Amino acid sequence: MKIENSLPCHQLPEVHPHNELQFTVATEEDFDDIMAISQDIYGGLDYLPSRFQAWLQETNRTVILARKQGKVIALESVCVIDDGETMLVEGLRVAPQERGKGVAGVLLRFCSQLVKAKHPEVKVSRLTRDDQLGAKDFQKYRLITKQGILLVRFCAEDLKLRIAELGLNMGSAGDGLHPSSTPVRLEPEEVIQIFLNNGVMQDILPNGTIVQDWQPFKPLSSNMAILLKKDIDWMVDDVSCPSVASLCTFPIRVPIGNDWYYLNIDMFGKDLTLALQQLVCHLRSHTDTLKGHVMCQVFLDPPLWRPMADFFKETLKVELVKEYTEQCVVESDVV
Ligand SMILES: CC(C)(COP(=O)(O)OP(=O)(O)OC[C@H]1O[C@@H](n2cnc3c(N)ncnc32)[C@H](O)[C@@H]1OP(=O)(O)O)[C@@H](O)C(=O)NCCC(=O)NCCS
Repeated sequence: MKIENSLPCHQLPEVHPHNELQFTVATEEDFDDIMAISQDIYGGLDYLPSRFQAWLQETNRTVILARKQGKVIALESVCVIDDGETMLVEGLRVAPQERGKGVAGVLLRFCSQLVKAKHPEVKVSRLTRDDQLGAKDFQKYRLITKQGILLVRFCAEDLKLRIAELGLNMGSAGDGLHPSSTPVRLEPEEVIQIFLNNGVMQDILPNGTIVQDWQPFKPLSSNMAILLKKDIDWMVDDVSCPSVASLCTFPIRVPIGNDWYYLNIDMFGKDLTLALQQLVCHLRSHTDTLKGHVMCQVFLDPPLWRPMADFFKETLKVELVKEYTEQCVVESDVV
């Protein structure tokens, strides 16, 4: 087992040999090979094609490839966050013909040791799993939080009309949405002020964590700097005393077909009415100019899943892609 393009030899971590595998740091030239092992990942919602180039530029991130006889067979990205305490594992994938042979396990251990060698201050590894976890998994993981996943699909132009029918004043009587409060879109300074204020956000954020899409961040200045570089709309119901906060990405292209986009909305808080208001505001702002099809994934407190799914189906006439699923943010010690 060897790694190229990364650390000088004397700094290489010791790993148990998995003789056929070599490890390299991914470069732009590897893009096509990575796409070749990524067919059909996440039901076509793979974010990697649109993020790969940017990932290579991030100074706190390393993208590692596992190769067999020189051929790319697996990828994992590791990113150091939470003031250097946490290693975030993302993008894990193994070529279909190589699955079930322990490759992911070897790659995970290799990356963990690589990060520990480069960043001895890293204490824990965090990742998000949306598959069924069992008792065996919870022997190695601590659960940080669980979120419901609501996945819907729509044509942007159709949804725009539907939202216009709801009326400009979302809070008008009869639509079940409060007239009294209008969601506030936050400026970066307000985001910092509100999200770094523990007293204000403690009851809203799941286990004190800002889960953006699948990435868990502790509310720390260093993490806010990472988050604020992303194209995200931040919203709350009330700047001084929020009950619901939400983050919505700008649409990114996904490889399901031509003109397919992915929109992610993270909803924090338990008040359904306020959550629906913010949902509609985000959808309105992103369908205003967008042309094409959208897969929209909302991560939310599990009890809000059913009523929000009903709102999508009955009020917005939007199709659910799948029934209830959830994602678990989990953590384990890096030793
Ligand atoms: C999930 C996937 C990477 C597993 O690869 P694999 O080489 O078949 O897995 P292994 O044979 O090493 O065995 C599974 C091990 O990986 C772990 N694993 C499975 N999915 C995982 C995930 N998403 N994140 C971290 N670990 C995972 C299992 O818990 C198991 O660990 P254990 O050995 O401690 O019990 C592979 O099936 C794949 O590429 N699937 C499509 C992409 C995907 O769903 N990626 C998940 C990203 S969230």
